[in-house]
Amino acid sequence: MKLLAGIPGWTVKADVIVIGSGVAGLTTALNLRASNLSVLLVTKARIDEGSTKWAQGGIAAALGPGDTPDQHQKDTLIAGAGLCDLSAVDVLVTEGPEAVRKLIARGAVFDKSDTGEIALTREGGHLRNRILHAGGDATGAEVSRALLAAVQEDNGIEVIENALAIDVLKGKSGRVCGITLHVIGEGSRDGVGRALARAVVIATGGLGQVYAQTTNPSVSTGDGVALSLRAGAEIADVEFIQFHPTVLWRDESLGGQQPLISEAVRGEGAFLVNDKGERFMQGKHPQADLAPRDIVAIEIFKQMKERNTPHVWLDATGIKDFAERFPTIYSSCLANGINPTKQLIPVSPASHYASGGVLVDLVGRTTVAGLYACGETACTGAHGANRLASNSLLEGLVFGTRISADIAQNMPEQEEPAIETGNDFLLDPAIKLTLQLAMSQGAGVMRSKNSLSETLLTLQQLGSHESHDPCIEAWEVSNLYLLAIAIVRSALERTESRGSHWRSDFPDPSDEWLKRVVQSYDKLGKWSTRYEVVK
Ligand code: FAD
Ligand code: SIN
Repeated sequence: MKLLAGIPGWTVKADVIVIGSGVAGLTTALNLRASNLSVLLVTKARIDEGSTKWAQGGIAAALGPGDTPDQHQKDTLIAGAGLCDLSAVDVLVTEGPEAVRKLIARGAVFDKSDTGEIALTREGGHLRNRILHAGGDATGAEVSRALLAAVQEDNGIEVIENALAIDVLKGKSGRVCGITLHVIGEGSRDGVGRALARAVVIATGGLGQVYAQTTNPSVSTGDGVALSLRAGAEIADVEFIQFHPTVLWRDESLGGQQPLISEAVRGEGAFLVNDKGERFMQGKHPQADLAPRDIVAIEIFKQMKERNTPHVWLDATGIKDFAERFPTIYSSCLANGINPTKQLIPVSPASHYASGGVLVDLVGRTTVAGLYACGETACTGAHGANRLASNSLLEGLVFGTRISADIAQNMPEQEEPAIETGNDFLLDPAIKLTLQLAMSQGAGVMRSKNSLSETLLTLQQLGSHESHDPCIEAWEVSNLYLLAIAIVRSALERTESRGSHWRSDFPDPSDEWLKRVVQSYDKLGKWSTRYEVVK
């Protein structure tokens, strides 16, 4: 299957194409340059768009006194609720500290304590203070700034902004040899074109926009996961959508990206209360308000249901110097009429992170030759059923480095694209809101066979709303549709509750489900499912 698009009118070439300019794409591009490979970096909007610049809490790495990768590993495995791939976690935590040092060498500046050491804070699920942060709660903006500055200085990386990757191109051997893309540009590179390369890295970030309320920016429409599926790659763990527990509650009618209240706020002493002022996380988990985020999100959801309230409250009034420590959060609260130093903050869960994605090995190779995936788009297995806070930026740094090394060692000759067979499809952008509401309603924090089946039915009906008018909104909604189907299929399969997959009709974890759901999609649009026992 491919998305319906115009005939490519122009061609560009490089050794490697990187799709996406978040932490994963930028890190991969910079490391490829160490092997002197030419890189074409295409990115759908402005170069700094994406989740990376919004990251608040920080980056987790065992850099503090007394902390070790082993302890970071233990916390990651506990959060992952039995589904982490041990070797992927091992890579993440052991190579993490060096990857962070390299980021610092590239110019990223992290906050320091009074003694001049890097200040480390705590977030949900961490038993140690191991989160580096920058600008208080503007860690992602600093990571993005530093990496972008390095990319912009490098003449071997060509950047095309406003360039939406549509589908991959394959050579006669079946190996990926490029992509089709649409550029809103000037001169010859405008409209649909082809980019050819010897390897393609997908680093298109998350898919939060599948839901009506999300912390993710508008570009997070899961394009890379959807295009990998269409290319024949396997995806895994997509039922594990992480809902961040503390997203500023404003009004249910406000859709799209919502302001995040970082877990680091709880790390600095804030706590949750219900409408009666009760600290409901106490007694629910040994780490109470700092339990792994799936557990906190579920407890909040239960409170909201039992007490029939649209949100719970976060009490951060005890945090000294709130405005200095959390300047971004402080101003977004003020902009919404709340002074967090004096008032409780209304919070509720919203979709935040895709723990699953395109199935990759330890060097980022997907199941399709020549196609790599990195960052939130990928499923390395490091997050299992629920990502540990602040392990995502780290994953982009660590696996971006590994992918570039593998590509440099295994560069094939450039192949010419073969003529592809198969169907084209495209959906009407007008279905977007119905799709998002159906997903929030039936495949959100809590799911059941009934709710998922209803959502699937709605999605199947939406699938008949075809479009013959290729445009950005139509490509994005077609990607959202494919992912929504994949999430619901996977969530229906998993008849247990584990990590961020909570089934009200199967409330307990089951040892039978110590395996991941792996899905693929063939040229004719037929889905297949297999199970992979977790190593
Ligand atoms: P992104 O940074 O999302 O970049 C994706 C890129 O791909 C963008 O440039 C986008 O424009 C581009 N793109 C998308 N589709 C296409 C297409 N079709 N063609 C071309 N380009 C495309 N994680 C942490 O570890 N610590 C934190 O403190 C933290 N806080 C967070 C706070 C918020 C509000 C959010 C939303 C996330 C947070 N996360 C945090 C998660 C983390 O930020 C992301 O998982 C991570 O930044 C993803 O990086 P990425 O490079 O994979 O994707
Ligand atoms: C946060 O700051 O709470 C988000 C951290 C993350 O998603 O890792």
